[in-house]
Amino acid sequence: MKTKSIDLKCAAFLGRVTEFWRRRRLPADLTSVSTKPLTLITGGSGGIGAALAQELAEAGHNILIIGQDEARLRSIAMRLQEVGSGEVLSLALDLSDFNMHHMIDGLLEAKGYHVDILVNNAGLGERDEFLEAEWSDLETVLDVNVKVLTALSHRYLPGMTVRGSGALLNMASLGGLTPGPYNSIYFASKAYVINFTEALANEVRGKGVYIGAILPGPTKTAFHHKIDGQNSFYNYLLWKLKPRFVARSVHRAMLMRVWPIVTPGLFYSMAALCLRVIPGSIMAPFMGILYKKRSF
Ligand SMILES: NC(=O)c1ccc[n+]([C@@H]2O[C@H](COP(=O)([O-])OP(=O)(O)OC[C@H]3O[C@@H](n4cnc5c(N)ncnc54)[C@H](OP(=O)(O)O)[C@@H]3O)[C@@H](O)[C@H]2O)c1
Repeated sequence: MKTKSIDLKCAAFLGRVTEFWRRRRLPADLTSVSTKPLTLITGGSGGIGAALAQELAEAGHNILIIGQDEARLRSIAMRLQEVGSGEVLSLALDLSDFNMHHMIDGLLEAKGYHVDILVNNAGLGERDEFLEAEWSDLETVLDVNVKVLTALSHRYLPGMTVRGSGALLNMASLGGLTPGPYNSIYFASKAYVINFTEALANEVRGKGVYIGAILPGPTKTAFHHKIDGQNSFYNYLLWKLKPRFVARSVHRAMLMRVWPIVTPGLFYSMAALCLRVIPGSIMAPFMGILYKKRSF
């Protein structure tokens, strides 16, 4: 796999020297497979997912991006096809649809791929506060952020452990480390992602698979508009990361294959450390002031 920059070369080197430790529980005769490896990125039709797809396409991965907006997915896939040596596929579907597994597996089988790297990136927050929100909207947040992420992990992780290679990256959020009044479901769903991922990383240790949770701070994407957060104080007060910066951190983590928790950027890494030790009861009122949806 091509890696250009110094940081990626260093990350890949660190990944290679620690490889023996990750594969210590792996039978030697299970490593041959006939299908080609593919990186599956959910929520690849915009924001962080599209930036990550670009980062990995440039590194030569075969990629499948999934989202709901077919036209946007197609145009991203066509653009990425030109920047890398791998194949870039796209699939438009609603991940909360019960049949999504069959559609993904059908495409993979037809093209002769297996999922070597799964990035559960698709996610959304609630637009309205809990008391005013429609249950169907809250349910969609829980479905995509929690149920779909867990279902896809359950579907593709066993194959990775059998092959003794691959990676599972789950997109959490810095918000998963604290209660988030006015975005209560979103923050709680990301707490689930962090705990689930750290537990899984422990369960499969030594089987050759890297498992990590990504905890970005606020990032410049359409996400904030979708949750009606444009007038919330956090939108003015918190510094926003660029999607490509987050994507590069994820790529480095994939190559290093060491840390189960990845927080892009030094500033937000420090913030994550603080959030790990400050009790939720202290953080909650403060987060409420930052995240209250305001109209002015
Ligand atoms: N932006 C931030 O500040 C921030 C910070 C921390 C963590 N995150 C996390 O990063 C991830 C990506 O968010 P983003 O900022 O890039 O937001 P975004 O631009 O809104 O992207 C969200 C992606 O998820 C897809 N998606 C949502 N619901 C879906 C469904 N039911 N079926 C299929 N695809 C679906 C969207 O596809 P369509 O548009 O086609 O529906 C889109 O590609 C999320 O998990 C988010 O929680 C974001």
